[in-house]
Amino acid sequence: MKIRDVLLSEYGVASSVPSAVNQMMTDFAVGFRDGIDINLGVGYVNENTIPRKLIQNAYQAVLANPKKYRASLNYGGAQGSPNLIESIKTYLINNQIEGITQDTFSQRDIVIGANGATSLLESITHLLPIGIVVTTDPMYYIYCNDLERKGFTIVTILEDNKGLQTDLLREKLNALGREKENIQFFYVVTVNNPSCTIFSNHRKKTLVEIVTQLSYEVGRKIPLFFDNAYSDLVHDNTVERLESAFLYDEIGIVYEIGTLSKIIAPGLRIGYLIGPKGAFLNSIIQRTSDIGFSAPLINQEIASYLLDNDIEAQIQKVNKGYKRKAIQVKTWIHVLLGENLQECRGGSAGFYYYLTLANTITDSSSDFFKYLTRTTGDEVIDGHNDNPHPKVIYIPGEHCVHPSGEMVDIGKRQLRISYGFEELPQIHAALKHMKDAITYSCEQI
Ligand SMILES: Cc1ncc(COP(=O)(O)O)c(C=O)c1O
Repeated sequence: MKIRDVLLSEYGVASSVPSAVNQMMTDFAVGFRDGIDINLGVGYVNENTIPRKLIQNAYQAVLANPKKYRASLNYGGAQGSPNLIESIKTYLINNQIEGITQDTFSQRDIVIGANGATSLLESITHLLPIGIVVTTDPMYYIYCNDLERKGFTIVTILEDNKGLQTDLLREKLNALGREKENIQFFYVVTVNNPSCTIFSNHRKKTLVEIVTQLSYEVGRKIPLFFDNAYSDLVHDNTVERLESAFLYDEIGIVYEIGTLSKIIAPGLRIGYLIGPKGAFLNSIIQRTSDIGFSAPLINQEIASYLLDNDIEAQIQKVNKGYKRKAIQVKTWIHVLLGENLQECRGGSAGFYYYLTLANTITDSSSDFFKYLTRTTGDEVIDGHNDNPHPKVIYIPGEHCVHPSGEMVDIGKRQLRISYGFEELPQIHAALKHMKDAITYSCEQI
C-alpha cells in the first residue's frame, strides 16, 4: 500500500531544505583540511579569545559555593539565574555603553535565553503576529532567513557608514501607506553583521523617534529590537562611545539583546534580552520554559562568576587581539585587492570586513567563487582531485542583501570576510588567493 510522507507545516516545508548559506557551509565543512583550507566565512570567534582557564576556574568556584550558586546542576528558572541577571546588570552599568544605570532597571527586566541570543530572536518570531519586519540592507541573513521561513515579510532600508539611513526609512514608511499598519517590529544590529557598520548614536535616537511616532500613528507600541551582539567589540577608540537606545525611549518600545558569545565563549550559549516589564517579556519567559526550561543553569552560573570577577581584563584582551588583526588585515586588503576594491566597510568593531569589488562577481556561480573553492574544472587551478589546492571560503554578498531589495545587483560584487576565526598568516594567504581569483575572473570574460 502506498503511504504519503510525513505531512509538514508550511514552516516545516520551508525548513526541510537547508538555507543556501547552510548548504554552502556544510559542503565546505565536508573535507575541510585543517592547516590547508582557510575559512573566512564562519562567524566563529577566535579560539585564542576563549578564556579556557578562567572558565575552568569559574566552574570549580561555582560548584564549591552551593550557598550562592544553588543547585547549579539542576533545572533553572525560566527567566534565568538571579545571580546571572544581577551580574549582567552590574556589568552593563559599569560597561562602555553610555546610559545604562540602576534606574534603567526600575521599569525593565533582563531575561536569559534558552540558547544564546539566537533563541531569543527565534522566540520573538512565535510571540509577535506575522507581518512586516523592518531591518537594514545588508541584513543579518541568518535571522532574516528564519523570519521569512515563518512567513514574515522583510522590508530593508539601505545603510551607509553610519548604519540604517533614517531619511530613507521615512520615505519608505510614506510609500508603504496603509501597509504600515502591518509592521510588527524593527530589528537593527548595532554593529551590523555582515558589514560591522556601527549604528551612530544620532541615527539610533532618530530611529527611536520615528518608531515612537509610528506607534502613535498605528495606535499600538511597535517594538524595536537592537541586537548588540558585537557592541562590546568596538576596538577602535576613535569612534564615539555607544549609547544605549533606552536613553531615548519614552513609551517603552525599545528592547536590547546581548550575548556573551563574542566576549567569552559561544559554547556557553548565554544571551539576554532587556526590555520593559510587561506582557511581551512574560511571554518570552514562558517561551523559554516551553523550549527547554532555561539555559543550562551551570553555564549561567559560570557566566555570572566570570562577569563578577574577570570580565574587564577579558574584554580588553579580546579587543586588543581583534584590533591588531583589523589593522593588519585592512592593510593587506588595500595592498592585495586595492585595484579592484570599490568599498571596504568594517574594521572598527566586531571582526568582519564587508567588501564591494569594482568589477568582479562573487556569487556562488562566479569564477571568483569557483577559483577559491577549487571547482573551476581546470586541474591547473583546482589541483588534483584528491588533493586540491587550498580552498578559501567567504560569504558571498548575494546572501547578505535582501533578495528583493535594492542591493541585489551590487550584492553580486560583495563579500563578507571574517578576521575572527583564522590567524593572520592564514588570512594573508587567503587574500593572496583572492587576488589571484580576481585575475582569473578577469581572464574568463
Ligand atoms: C547579529 C548577531 N546576533 C546574534 C548572534 C548569535 O548570538 P548567540 O551566540 O548568543 O546566539 C550572532 C552571531 O554571530 C550575530 O551575528
